[in-house]
Amino acid sequence: MLNSEEIHPDKVSGNDADKHSLIRIKRLTGVTPLGSQGAVLHGDHANLAIIPVAAGILRLKVFFGGDKPDLGTTPAILPLTQTGDIVLTEDEASYTILSAGLRTVAAKSPFGVKVYDDSGELLADLLGIEWNEKRAQTALLAMDGESHFYGFGEKTGFLDKKGERYEMWNSDVYEPHVPDIEALYQSIPWSIHFRYGRPAYGVLLDNPGRTAFDMRTRADRYQISAERGALDLYIVQGPTLKDVVRNLAELTGRTPLPPKWAIGYQQSRYSYMNQEEVLKVARTFREKRIPCDVLYLDIHYMDEYRVFTWDPVAFPRPQEMMRELESLGFNLVPIVDPGVKKDPSYPVYREGVHNGYFCRKLEGEIFIGPVWPGPSAFPDFTDDRAAEWWGDLHVHFTGNGIKGIWNDMNEPSVFNESKTMDLDVVHANNGDPKTHGELHNLYGMLMSKATQEGMKRHLNGERPFVLTRAGYAGIQRYATVWTGDNRSYWEHLAMSIPMVLNLGLSGVAFAGPDIGGFSHDTTGELLARWTQAGAFTPFCRNHSAIDTIRQEPWLFGEKVEDICRSYIALRYRLMPTLYSFFYDTSVSGLPIVRPLLMEYPDDASVYNLCDQFLFGPDLMIAPILRPGTFSRAVYLPAGAWYDYWTGERREGGRWILANAPLETMPMYVRAGGILAEQPLTMHACDAAAQAGPLTLTVYAGGEGRFALYEDDGLTYAYEQGHYRLRRFVWTEDADGQGSSLRCERAHDGVTGTAHGTAASRILRIFVERPSKAPSQVTASGAALLEWSYDAAAGRFFAELDVSEEDGFELRLA
Ligand code: GLC
Repeated sequence: MLNSEEIHPDKVSGNDADKHSLIRIKRLTGVTPLGSQGAVLHGDHANLAIIPVAAGILRLKVFFGGDKPDLGTTPAILPLTQTGDIVLTEDEASYTILSAGLRTVAAKSPFGVKVYDDSGELLADLLGIEWNEKRAQTALLAMDGESHFYGFGEKTGFLDKKGERYEMWNSDVYEPHVPDIEALYQSIPWSIHFRYGRPAYGVLLDNPGRTAFDMRTRADRYQISAERGALDLYIVQGPTLKDVVRNLAELTGRTPLPPKWAIGYQQSRYSYMNQEEVLKVARTFREKRIPCDVLYLDIHYMDEYRVFTWDPVAFPRPQEMMRELESLGFNLVPIVDPGVKKDPSYPVYREGVHNGYFCRKLEGEIFIGPVWPGPSAFPDFTDDRAAEWWGDLHVHFTGNGIKGIWNDMNEPSVFNESKTMDLDVVHANNGDPKTHGELHNLYGMLMSKATQEGMKRHLNGERPFVLTRAGYAGIQRYATVWTGDNRSYWEHLAMSIPMVLNLGLSGVAFAGPDIGGFSHDTTGELLARWTQAGAFTPFCRNHSAIDTIRQEPWLFGEKVEDICRSYIALRYRLMPTLYSFFYDTSVSGLPIVRPLLMEYPDDASVYNLCDQFLFGPDLMIAPILRPGTFSRAVYLPAGAWYDYWTGERREGGRWILANAPLETMPMYVRAGGILAEQPLTMHACDAAAQAGPLTLTVYAGGEGRFALYEDDGLTYAYEQGHYRLRRFVWTEDADGQGSSLRCERAHDGVTGTAHGTAASRILRIFVERPSKAPSQVTASGAALLEWSYDAAAGRFFAELDVSEEDGFELRLA
């Protein structure tokens, strides 16, 4: 328990006493051009490098002494090549740097830097840079009453982070996740500053030590600080929120296409205790016809928690288990923690010690900290040799047909007073040694990178899946993120939404919470409501803790089981839509689940709206987030919307009261929205799905676009062009007399399984509420097999054979 000592004046940072000892850049004394790289501004006490790194992205790095900054980066930052010329000019009052997309004006005295976009609008307004005698540095950026803040990776609280303060320090937090918690498992030092009618921009701080973003302390400025190491900022241009997120993806990368099975429903438990139990769970899913793709093995599968081993008694024949799982269409994802048991008879420990792969103190002593296996050593993933060794250890799994790995405890979490590795451990860092204090937040990401790369080396061309608890900016390139040890609280169901939305705005599209809640006992009602919402989070896994009641969907009576089954089934029917969204994020970097704010930035009612969200651009999900609640207010932005369940058309720009008996989660589709569905299957890679007809539903009343992506769902053949991309466009004649659905094959390189190959050429099209009852229906470029119109329901139906065509047009008049 914490007591009042927690708020002892000496413990509270940022109190007024600290202010007196601050040093700041007061004025600029000169400039050194860095050619095509940018320029260094010399201040009276420190220098500031201004480096345009890509169109619309500007790096600002503070450094002390010398003329040249160290322009190295952490692995978060992709190698970028600056495009276009840089022009540096000086007048009496300022230096100006023109680069692609941006104009940066640095005032000489008093010092300040303003970054403008190419339309002359002010983006970031850097009011000052200050530091204390320990060189903990802070950047002060202007904000005002209209400011809203998003991003920050995985944080508690609501969507809009205005008035909040967060720390970036990867932490294993088992206490209940509440708004006061400033740091969780992931650290993405990234903020988006958004104001109505003004261009949005983001700031990334590339420093994996302890850093902070403070939008609370001052009314007119927000503060970004680094306790140690460099203040190395990237200003990322908008103007729209989507542009900011797309540009962030240029800097820190995108989520690669996962194997399709990894976007199915997943079931976990701490722990399934033995081989028979795992198989029983798998068989029960199939018997009960609840779709599921993945089962997890938590720490009990190992021999006394030694990583890369099997418990010989509980899991005596893993290959046999894997064969049955495979025949049932399941993948198995075992947990792998970084702690390697200190045991001189254990080959992994021996190899690590022998080859110098473990983290050590400067004096040479290996850092040993207690975790599940007792005293353990930790691989130094900053050393490529150690990372490669670790990656190759995964043949232990790939050799058994395992294609996914769950990385946990990789903050790293240590059962000691500081809860992590000693800060004076010195990481090898490939020849540029740095202390753990400087690199802490990178540890988990580098573990997942080593894991993903190792799995990839040993999976013969298949895509691996890696799930991680800890991460840093760029983690999406290597792993999927789950939000750690939440609880079976209704509040945590509610909080999971803004958490996942802000992760998406921070570049991490593939994320989700433990459905049903990890610790604490869930209830049937909570599980039903959480499964409804969870069917629409990009990562969809039910997981629960060792000391809680079991949480598989069939354990709470028939009604809850039916509800879970039908929402999980809905996810599987919508798989072509979901997989296409994954494709979209892999090329655009835009999130799959979005706050309404992203699509409706001019609507002030949505700036902090996070009890409802968008799945892709058009489908609104409005989960029930409280017990005993069977209706809720839903905000429909301007335009028309369809009730997904009843087809009823509602005018937007207003709040409505939605009916939500336990079996119904309110969902609405924007007029113009297009959803693709396939026949229900029990797992995502079931060939039957590809062979069955594909169904497109168009919700008339607005222009619509949808890009349908298909490939083999498993390999990297898509990188060689083996995929199909079809763009569907729905348009309506201005006079309301006709409408058409056009399909263009943007790319067709499918060789294996995808819709439209072999038997699966049939496209079923529904149009909800076309503007008039169609009397003439024609198709060009495809054979129209049949059509009908249900006047009572206002629903049009057509079946097309789209076999060999490049594209088609279906016209309703
Ligand atoms: C941590 C993880 C949790 C896991 C447990 C045992 O608490 O966050 O998901 O089940 O460790 O491995």
